[in-house]
Amino acid sequence: MKDVHMEKRRKVILDVDTGSDDAVAIMTALRSRELEVLGITTVHGNLPLAYTTDNTLRVVELLGADVPVYAGCPYPLVHDLLPGRRRNADEEPKETVVDGKVVAVHEKTLPLPPPTRRPQEEHAVSWLLRTLKASEEPITLIPVGAMTNIAAVLRMDPSVKEHIDEIICMGGGVHVHNRAFRSETNFYNDPEAAKILVNSGVKLTIVCLDATHSAWFGYEEADRLRALGTRAADFAADMLCHRICAANLTGARREPKSALHDVLAVCAAIDPSVLLDVRHETCDVDIGGGVADGMLMTSMRWRYSEAKLPTYIAYRADGEKLLAMMCSRLGRAD
Ligand code: BDR
Ligand code: CA
Repeated sequence: MKDVHMEKRRKVILDVDTGSDDAVAIMTALRSRELEVLGITTVHGNLPLAYTTDNTLRVVELLGADVPVYAGCPYPLVHDLLPGRRRNADEEPKETVVDGKVVAVHEKTLPLPPPTRRPQEEHAVSWLLRTLKASEEPITLIPVGAMTNIAAVLRMDPSVKEHIDEIICMGGGVHVHNRAFRSETNFYNDPEAAKILVNSGVKLTIVCLDATHSAWFGYEEADRLRALGTRAADFAADMLCHRICAANLTGARREPKSALHDVLAVCAAIDPSVLLDVRHETCDVDIGGGVADGMLMTSMRWRYSEAKLPTYIAYRADGEKLLAMMCSRLGRAD
C-alpha cells in the first residue's frame, strides 16, 4: 500500500473570497496531507475584501494552522469602470430580510471568534509573483473567488507561467448559471480577469457550476460530517446547513440541498478523478457588458478544429467521492 506521507506533497496556493463554501475549501486543503498550502490570498467577491480577509483569518485560526494570509485586490480589473455595468465591489452585499431577520448565503462575518493574527503586510499579487518566480517546483493555483489576483500576476509578468503547474479554478457555468442571465458569480465578478486566465496558455481546469451542482449535499450529509466530531467537520456541517437554510428562506432554491462549490476545486487538486466528464474545449469569456457579461463560452468544434489551449472543463463531479474526501480530511484529529 502506498504511504501518502512519504509522497511529495503538491504545492498549492488558494485564492479565496471567504465566503461560506470557501471556508470548507480552506479547511479541507489545510487538513490534506497531499497538499502543501504555501499561503492563502484573498480577493473581493462574495463580500468586500475586508470581510473576505477577516473571514479567511478566522477559518485559519479555527484550525490552528500556520499558513500566511495575504490580502489582494479589492476591485475587479476594469469591470466597475463602466457606469451601470456592475455594482461597486465596496458596496455592502444585498441582504434579504425574512420575517424581520437578515438572511445571506455568505454572512459578512463568519460565526467564529475574531482573529488574533493579521494578514501579511505584502500585497497578495506581489507575494504571488515573488513566490511563483522563486519556486523551482511549479505551483498549483486554486482560485475560487473573482480571478482578479491571478490575472494581475499574469499581466505583470507573463514569464510567471513557467512556474505554474496548473490553475484549477471554480468559476463559470456552461448550462448552469447563478448570477446573471448567463453567468456564474466568480466569472461575473471580474469577467476580464477570467478571460485572461482562459487565454493564458496555462493549463486551466475549470470546475464550473455544471460540476458543482451535480454534487449537492443535504442535512444527511451534514450529519455525516458532524458525526466526525472535529472542529473542522463541525464547522463544515454548520456552513452546509446555513447554505441550505439561507437558500430555502430566500427562495433561491426549494430543495433542502446545497452545492459546496469551492471544495470541489481543492479536491480536484488532490485527486482529479473526483471530476467526471472533463472535456478539452475551446473556451472564452464574454466581456461585452451586455446580458452575457461574464459568460463562459465553450465549443469543442470552433472552426472545426481541436482546442488549441489547455483549457479543460469539468461537467460533473463524483459526489460520493467528494464527500468521502471531505470526511477523511475534515475528520482528522484537531
Ligand atoms: C462561487 O461563487 C461564490 O459565491 C462561491 O464562493 C463560489 O466560489 C459559486 O458560483
Ligand atoms: Ca468562493
